[in-house]
Amino acid sequence: MVSSIKVLWCCLLLSLLPCRVANGHAPLVPSERFPLRVEGRFIVDRLGERVKWACVNWYGPESISFTFGGMEKLPVDEIVKRIAELGFNCVRVAYSLEAHVRNPFLEEQFVKANRFLSGKRFLDGFDAGIEALTKAGLMVIIDQHVSRAGYCCHWSQDEGLWYVPGYPEDIWIQSLVNMTRRYRGNSFVVGIDLRNEVHDLHSNPKWGNGLMMTWGDNDPKTDWAAAATRAGNRVLAENQDLIIVVMALCFGMELRPMRSHPIKLDLPNRVVYETHNYVEYQFWNLIPRDLGITFSTLRTITMLSCLALSATIFYLLRRWRRSGTGYPPKHLFLMSLGAWSALFSLIFMAMAFTTYKAACTYCKWGAQEDFLPWVYFWLLAALGGLALLVVSWRLSGMASLAELLQVDRNLLQSDESCDEETDLFRKSSGEGSGREITRPWDRGLVINLQCFMVSVILLLVCMVALLAAIFIDTYWFYERLEKTCHQNHRVVAHCLWWSHARWLDKQWGFALEEGQAFTAPIWMGEFGYLNHGSFWLQFMRRWLNGQVHSRYSLASFG
Ligand SMILES: *[C@@H]1O[C@H](CO)[C@@H](O)[C@H](O)[C@H]1NC(C)=O
Repeated sequence: MVSSIKVLWCCLLLSLLPCRVANGHAPLVPSERFPLRVEGRFIVDRLGERVKWACVNWYGPESISFTFGGMEKLPVDEIVKRIAELGFNCVRVAYSLEAHVRNPFLEEQFVKANRFLSGKRFLDGFDAGIEALTKAGLMVIIDQHVSRAGYCCHWSQDEGLWYVPGYPEDIWIQSLVNMTRRYRGNSFVVGIDLRNEVHDLHSNPKWGNGLMMTWGDNDPKTDWAAAATRAGNRVLAENQDLIIVVMALCFGMELRPMRSHPIKLDLPNRVVYETHNYVEYQFWNLIPRDLGITFSTLRTITMLSCLALSATIFYLLRRWRRSGTGYPPKHLFLMSLGAWSALFSLIFMAMAFTTYKAACTYCKWGAQEDFLPWVYFWLLAALGGLALLVVSWRLSGMASLAELLQVDRNLLQSDESCDEETDLFRKSSGEGSGREITRPWDRGLVINLQCFMVSVILLLVCMVALLAAIFIDTYWFYERLEKTCHQNHRVVAHCLWWSHARWLDKQWGFALEEGQAFTAPIWMGEFGYLNHGSFWLQFMRRWLNGQVHSRYSLASFG
């Protein structure tokens, strides 16, 4: 998801977390504390003391400039100094296979402020950056970002897997091995991030039908866990002191399959999992952008719609009461209920299916977990509605609804009045309380009943939308509600499945639970948002802070 332009390139803002040192600076880690290892959910130094990676991404070498961003503006040492001053203790540096294999010459325009690099190549620039960073005492994690130089990653790109046309797995592993060798002598290069934002391959003319990434099924074409194990072992064979960083599936969102298949390398205590999170990853954040309205407008619209629907329902009820008719015949009521609930369930099923298909374009694994159950749910509801319709029809002993209407039409025909409503009104008011003397159900009332049912269903939908609009941008929804759900986990397993915090826990926060086979550190390698004003970053930070004392201590990133 990283774009070299405006995406907030901050990763691991651990300076936000309470265990930071007072001035918000993560302490630099002196060389005598290396090598690093993994212990439970923490990264530790050689003495077992916790080490936090508080990194920033320094983009560039993975892009078509083939070198670090900013080299055209400032001398490399100045940039590095600024990174350290900002309080980071490590830097994630990204590169492309294309750059590594071709090792192209650097264009003057990209190294204007670093003349010593003019006429030099990609690797010279990469060396210079890493040298400057590590001399300043910053840890470096080398990120194998993309195959072809350029932006990564969009669901429509074919950069989702660890191999692409022209860059097979061999080249990828060779490159990781070569990079490992190249910096083996530099103990500040502490980790290799095997590949950025792996995700399903969308079907595309070059690739055919697309591929769903898997984890732990040993399919050589799709099993990312197996590929990461192959690559990780090769890297560790060159330098056993590196931390191997393994990206979560689905752009770094999805680690659930790791629960049953943690990655096991030849050497233990080396694996850190990496997750990413951008504002776009929670679809409701896109409401203001995609619909072009604010949440308060959304609240107003849903509120007015709910009021209008309530008024309609009130009107229909009054009309029925005034007609002086009794309750609808049971079979008629149940048939209508069955028919409408079947119809609406089908509509919701179509919506769920569309969402499922959309999510499948980049994350079939998560789509199957999160959206497919809803497709089945609404399918069952539709079948239930149909069953109700058929059974109540059969039990009614009536041949058809038409028959009912036929009877009523005969009744109506005997009625002189053409103005049905006035007629009904006159009758009911004439009879005083009206309810006791029941008129048979004529066609007008049957239609009345159908309108009533549709309005009630729409009102329910509207109320859900209104509740969502009211709470969606509150921290209470973001976090508290999620807690409520956790406490009643079994009962309401899927309630509020969209709650952000709950999703995060489910998707990768679980890894931080101590003492499990899957326990491992989580490194949030990238997070941020494009500048459509959002509560996202604020909530995310607050949540990360809050998690320090809770079950899933997310403060232990890295
Ligand atoms: C890795 O190094 C080997 C040996 O020097 C070389 O043949 C190969 O081309 C390199 N591969 C990459 C991707 O850099």
